[in-house]
Amino acid sequence: MSKNTDELFKSVIAHAKEYGFVFPSSEIYDGLSAVYDYGQYGAELKNNIKTYWWKAMVQLNENIVGIDSAIFMHPKIWKASGHVDGFSDPMIDNKDSKKRYRADQLIEDKIAAYDNEGKTDQAEALQLALDEAQKADDLARLRELIIENNIVCPISGTANWTEVRQFNLMFSTQMGAVADDADVIYLRPETAQGIFVNYLNVQKSGRMKIPFGIAQIGKAFRNEVIARQFIIRMREFEQMEMQFFVRPGTQREWFDKWKETRLKWHLALGTAPEKYRYHEHTKLAHYADAAYDIEFEFPFGFKEVEGIHSRTNFDLSQHQEYSGKKMQYFDPEIDPDTNKPYGNYIPYVIETSIGLDRMFLLTLINAFEEEDLSTEEKQDSRTVLRLHPCLAPVKAAIFPLTKKDGLPEKAREIMDKLKVDFNLQYEEKDAIGKRYRRQDAIGTPFCITVDHQTLEDNTVTIRHRDTMAQERVPADSLDKIIGDLVSW
Ligand code: GAP
Repeated sequence: MSKNTDELFKSVIAHAKEYGFVFPSSEIYDGLSAVYDYGQYGAELKNNIKTYWWKAMVQLNENIVGIDSAIFMHPKIWKASGHVDGFSDPMIDNKDSKKRYRADQLIEDKIAAYDNEGKTDQAEALQLALDEAQKADDLARLRELIIENNIVCPISGTANWTEVRQFNLMFSTQMGAVADDADVIYLRPETAQGIFVNYLNVQKSGRMKIPFGIAQIGKAFRNEVIARQFIIRMREFEQMEMQFFVRPGTQREWFDKWKETRLKWHLALGTAPEKYRYHEHTKLAHYADAAYDIEFEFPFGFKEVEGIHSRTNFDLSQHQEYSGKKMQYFDPEIDPDTNKPYGNYIPYVIETSIGLDRMFLLTLINAFEEEDLSTEEKQDSRTVLRLHPCLAPVKAAIFPLTKKDGLPEKAREIMDKLKVDFNLQYEEKDAIGKRYRRQDAIGTPFCITVDHQTLEDNTVTIRHRDTMAQERVPADSLDKIIGDLVSW
């Protein structure tokens, strides 16, 4: 039954659609490239991941608060942040197929192909040349590398390429009725800037003292040149970001702390540690003094899920310059070296930024199992999502054994008591075994069956998803049993 990683990934995508987790957006109109909708169980799972993050970041840290800033922001913000001038990918078109590609991606794919063919010298040389061209921002050189290495278009098979051009990833639209340049605004490409521009509002209204953090969950939009690997690279996606404001000079210490804390958050869900690794950025963005990614091993290799960045005071300083408003914080604490207050400064920032959709996919892939249950007598299998109970979309399913003898009424009575606290599902159709399988497929940790004995002694059977073991328990204890296992 074991599948190769490609087949496994395809099975997860098919499962996500079949069981109402993720649908291609606008599917009846043949979809919209790199845009997806979350279905009934996907929305629940996504909400549970958000809650897990929000609790860990905001509720458990007295010095971190959460906000919800608007997607539309003043266009100058994106000038100040560097996105208008610098947030772009090198793009190349194939003249025959009229398809657009990222020039650097085509070259990276070729490097991988050289590696696969055992041509390590060529792979290394091309990697070096790519690094140099990227460092020098040399778009013409990228095109030369594509031609020199005979990289052909996957669709037309020709090497009839255009020049390489920078393509800004921000979506723009117009605000108001009159369409002139002054009205152009952008859909935010990251949530972080909404935090930076509100940092003094939050600090003053919340009387926050450094070090403190501001967290936010929200949509971000990027017009990715190529989008691939399902919900890994989308044009509309969600981020969970936190900016932690610190005293200049202490950023390394806080960076190390957040780097560790964030990996612990991932591992607390029970994922095997070897599935994760850190990746240190050696080419740092101009504003950063340290950056690490947390990567997860997807079926198609290790990919970034979260970034931890030491962003210095770049963003706040830029906003001070572009807005003309002071971004300084007055630190009343006494500096032991001078015996005077630290005084006014623009704080340094450590950022933790995780993609919610990537976390969602990671969770789904990690939980997905096609389990062989065959015995000598018969072949059998099930697809089960071994989700951590706190993330499971449905916490328990309630089944009357049959549709008669008052069992549905009793099952509904039990359900009504529990549904205030837990997301439950009632099902009376099909044989019990079939109902179990459907719940296994969406990751429901418990199935509760109401039978004739329930009418006599108010006990039910509870069946555990992972072990498939069943036990008989008083109906009045369900609240505690489910609560203990699905709690955060
Ligand atoms: N504020 C910093 C920032 O936005 P980033 O590395 O560009 O940093 C952070 O993005 C995270 O957002 C990534 O680690 C990834 O999980 C997610 N992300 C970025 N682009 C994405 C896309 N096109 N589709 C889905 N998730 C994306």
